[in-house]
Amino acid sequence: MLGNEFLFGGDYNPDQWKDYPEILKEDMRLMKLAGCNLMSVGIFSWATLEPEEGVYDFSFLDSVMDRLAENGIGAALATPSAARPAWMSMKYPEVLRVNERFERIRHGQRHNHCYTSPVYRQKTAEINRRLAERYKDHPALKLWHVSNEYNGICYCDKCQEAFREWLKERYDGDLDKLNHAWWSTFWSHNYTDWSQIEPPSPMGENSVHGLVLDWKRFATHQTIDFYLEEVKVLKEITPDVPATANWYWLAQRELNYKEFSKYVDIIAWDEYPLWHSPAGDLAIANEAAFIYNHCRCFKEGQPFLLMESTPSNVSYRTANGLKRPGMAVTTGLQAIAHGADSVQYFQWRKSRGGMEKYHGAVVDHEGSENTRTFREVAELGGHLKELKEIKAARTHSDIAIVYDAESEWALSDCFGFKTHDLQYDETCFAHHLPFYRRGFNIDVISPEDDFSKYRLLILPMLHIMREETAERIAAFTEQGGTVVMTYISAYVNETDLCHLGGFPAGRLKEVFGIRNEEIDSMYDGVSLPIKMADGTVFGAKDYAEVLHLQGAEALAVYDRDYYAGTPCLTKNRYGKGCAYYIGFRDEGDFLDAFYGGLTEELGIAPAAEGLPEGVTAASRVKEGEEYIFLMNFTAEEKKVSTNHPVLLGKRKEDAVLLPPYGTAVLKRRDNK
Ligand code: GLA
Ligand code: ZN
Repeated sequence: MLGNEFLFGGDYNPDQWKDYPEILKEDMRLMKLAGCNLMSVGIFSWATLEPEEGVYDFSFLDSVMDRLAENGIGAALATPSAARPAWMSMKYPEVLRVNERFERIRHGQRHNHCYTSPVYRQKTAEINRRLAERYKDHPALKLWHVSNEYNGICYCDKCQEAFREWLKERYDGDLDKLNHAWWSTFWSHNYTDWSQIEPPSPMGENSVHGLVLDWKRFATHQTIDFYLEEVKVLKEITPDVPATANWYWLAQRELNYKEFSKYVDIIAWDEYPLWHSPAGDLAIANEAAFIYNHCRCFKEGQPFLLMESTPSNVSYRTANGLKRPGMAVTTGLQAIAHGADSVQYFQWRKSRGGMEKYHGAVVDHEGSENTRTFREVAELGGHLKELKEIKAARTHSDIAIVYDAESEWALSDCFGFKTHDLQYDETCFAHHLPFYRRGFNIDVISPEDDFSKYRLLILPMLHIMREETAERIAAFTEQGGTVVMTYISAYVNETDLCHLGGFPAGRLKEVFGIRNEEIDSMYDGVSLPIKMADGTVFGAKDYAEVLHLQGAEALAVYDRDYYAGTPCLTKNRYGKGCAYYIGFRDEGDFLDAFYGGLTEELGIAPAAEGLPEGVTAASRVKEGEEYIFLMNFTAEEKKVSTNHPVLLGKRKEDAVLLPPYGTAVLKRRDNK
């Protein structure tokens, strides 16, 4: 896919520098010096390409595309729909987004159009058609970068009408079915006509959870529909050029990327971790690794593109710290280690003005290659060339964690438990950390993915449980898999109706051999002791479920309160497999000890053994070779014992040395 080398480059916005021909020339020299081979162009170029309605001017983009090609650099050519020219907003107000308070927002900013508007769809398709026709045979064209970071949703009348039509189809035109699915009899919210249905809003209905879930499903549907309309015309003219849309974590608050992933050719991700912030670099690296592991799993292990990252700082946070020396290389290689086939930056050259002029970029306002950031970027560019045999390698993992965007929606809208602090994402990250810090490869998959290829399946707070998913969890365990599920899992169905007959839902009570009668939510600062069978004591916080054994054995019990002595960690043999249930939220070291023991018991091997604290590992396999990345997320030099050949890094006797924030890559025969 996209050549034999890792892709390296970033967002290139030369339209900002149209009046600076020397700079445009210098860009090419610097790009080659840094080792760039792919630049994203045209992301926000609509006003340059169509300065007046129907008046197109591609001359500048022609020169950019030609220049890239002449210098052997490819283009990820963007469709410009992420920001529109002012003339369009003025003439066709319907293209402007309406917010959740039902106010139409005015022209400005970006990413704020209506995905339903026929005018916006038609204007987008038209400019996309012209781009595709003009550049279909251009040697620079490698990839379609469709729009930019689709996010959010519009609440205009057209979108509302489309929502109602979508609902009619979903509920077979049967309003009773919808009323039941949304439990609308509560507070007399029954709908007697489809026209009464409005999107959830702080101005109106915001208490029907099924409505909220369906609105977000509709937002996903409508975004994909808009994407497909953008892509239709590109595919007609350039059927062989792959298309992608760059995604980012928080957009999942309305977008189900698992659903979206079925429609893009390649997954592309933008990631800006808060390095060196008080959370600590290992925790931050863990989050980034979780996210990359998820990106890799959207399309069953297909390598993804890191489409944006910063080589130094961002500019939109309360404090925008710099990456420490070494981190530009290590954070780029971290994405590669977890399955990316590219490292791309936002942006190539710091803007002279505008919102993001202080955001880190490869080329500083200073303008030359003589900066620490440029040198580190160029160093990474060199490493990516040296490591090119790893391109397209896959990841082998015996362990999978299930992340479910829809469960996050349900939990964040949920009224109950610790209402404003359900910490779904944090919990998933916490279950990843014990494996990550020991150097295991971990897949982060979606509920609908195939479980059968794993040995250990982890379900943290999987609140929504479809019958079909429960059946596959049962089959996985029956056939010899080990499954771990936690508190607040399997409470509701896909429209947020609680499962009847006790939690966890249906057959899962047999799989786990327990019944979960009630859940206690604890106040902040409360610590509840947990006693293991061998007398070791851990602590629980936030949640304690009161469990009853129905075949399972208790591995730990609560050690205080009226439920003292009742089970909080259970184990049940089911078929050829085993099912563990954790009824509480760990306040400290429990998960680490538990998963450490479990991987040992199951004999699952990490990508690298004996890692010093703060050094992590991940590996990729290709043609019988395994490539092991060792990443040092500390400010001290570290040493890892190994006899494997070192592809990148410094060997010292029977070890490899990792400088502060440095990375090494080893190679060994893959025996799996
Ligand atoms: C996003 C956008 C970019 C830029 C960066 C800044 O990812 O896609 O255009 O604004 O954030 O970090
Ligand atoms: Zn709209």
